Amino acid sequence: MIKLLEIYKGKKVFVTGHTGFKGSWLCLWLKFLGADICGYALKTDTEPSIFNILKLKDKIKHIEGNICDFDKLNKELSFFCPDIVFHLAAQPLVPQSYKAPLETYRTNVLGVVNILEAVRCNHKVKAVVNVTTDKCYKNKEKDYAYKEDDELGGYDPYSNSKACSELVTSSYRDSFFNVQDFRIKHNTLIATARAGNVIGGGDYSLDRLVPDFVKAVKDNQCIILRNLNAVRPWQFVLEPLLGYLLLGKELLEEKVEHATAYNFGPREESIITVNEIVQELVSIYGGSYKIDTNKHPHEAKLLKLDINKAEKELDWHPVYGVKEAIKQTMSWYKAYYEGINMLEFSLDQILLFQKKISKVL
Ligand SMILES: NC(=O)c1ccc[n+]([C@@H]2O[C@H](COP(=O)([O-])OP(=O)(O)OC[C@H]3O[C@@H](n4cnc5c(N)ncnc54)[C@H](O)[C@@H]3O)[C@@H](O)[C@H]2O)c1
Repeated sequence: MIKLLEIYKGKKVFVTGHTGFKGSWLCLWLKFLGADICGYALKTDTEPSIFNILKLKDKIKHIEGNICDFDKLNKELSFFCPDIVFHLAAQPLVPQSYKAPLETYRTNVLGVVNILEAVRCNHKVKAVVNVTTDKCYKNKEKDYAYKEDDELGGYDPYSNSKACSELVTSSYRDSFFNVQDFRIKHNTLIATARAGNVIGGGDYSLDRLVPDFVKAVKDNQCIILRNLNAVRPWQFVLEPLLGYLLLGKELLEEKVEHATAYNFGPREESIITVNEIVQELVSIYGGSYKIDTNKHPHEAKLLKLDINKAEKELDWHPVYGVKEAIKQTMSWYKAYYEGINMLEFSLDQILLFQKKISKVL
């Protein structure tokens, strides 16, 4: 029986990227589980932002800092002295990575070196979960679900930088946090988590389907869509977060065999095209769309993840299908624009999700 409450209650958790979409949801959940949280990230750069909507600044230790500033990161990490680190800080957008490859590599590659180096300098950290992406695999554009030991790659700078992040983690694990030397030369277990396209309330990033759609409907505009036939593994935001929490739990419990990489994706029926998801969004939320026929920089067209390893080894399983994920997501935005208390609403979404997985509580 897995007990998330028992493991995270009172634990000191350092979250990078806590001001972002997934980081904010993770902090809210960890707070609910009773963790003592320190977040390290740039200040929010979207208006609105879920971090501000949930007033997370008042609920956790909040540090504004650049992941590329090793001295500051190292100082803050050693001062907080966490049990576990969840590393989410990143430049996470493919189109932006074409516009700013240097910034993308600096943040995503130097960033992971910095966090792992800071952990190396702070011997008390017991566990690190590095959040990468399904896009870290060398994409063969075939109807094939990628497994954890498949070749890494990445065509665009974002995907490629996340493959690099995987390689950096692997090198640090082999060189400094080798599982053979655990408890002899070091006390830290490190893993990576590869998740697919996440949807959920409070994402206000540019160039992402759901946020773009919500904004277009709100402004009474028609959404312009690219890559309508692209196939993606869509999942509700709490699904991969549950994976990160379970993986973190295994590492905190010193299960050395789990210091490795895990895929967290949806079931086959939720791996659908952009077109299919748009039809579903329109049926719930209204709105209209146009297809952008201009040529855009390359983006993977076909992406599927094999999730057997996480299901077998972590007892992690997808909870919602894509329709429920869309329903939960759109109800969040609807509630926000109706002026509802979003802290309570978001906690209710976590509670509802937890009920479905009551065995882990
Ligand atoms: N959202 C998705 O669909 C998805 C899918 C797969 C993987 N991921 C990964 O999950 C993580 C979180 O993604 P998100 O969707 O919440 O993104 P987001 O853009 O909402 O959040 C990114 C966070 O990183 C921080 N950050 C960016 N550059 C930084 C820097 N130089 N120094 C310090 N902090 C910096 C931001 O301040 C923010 O807190 C990323 O690592 C991303 O690659 C996201």
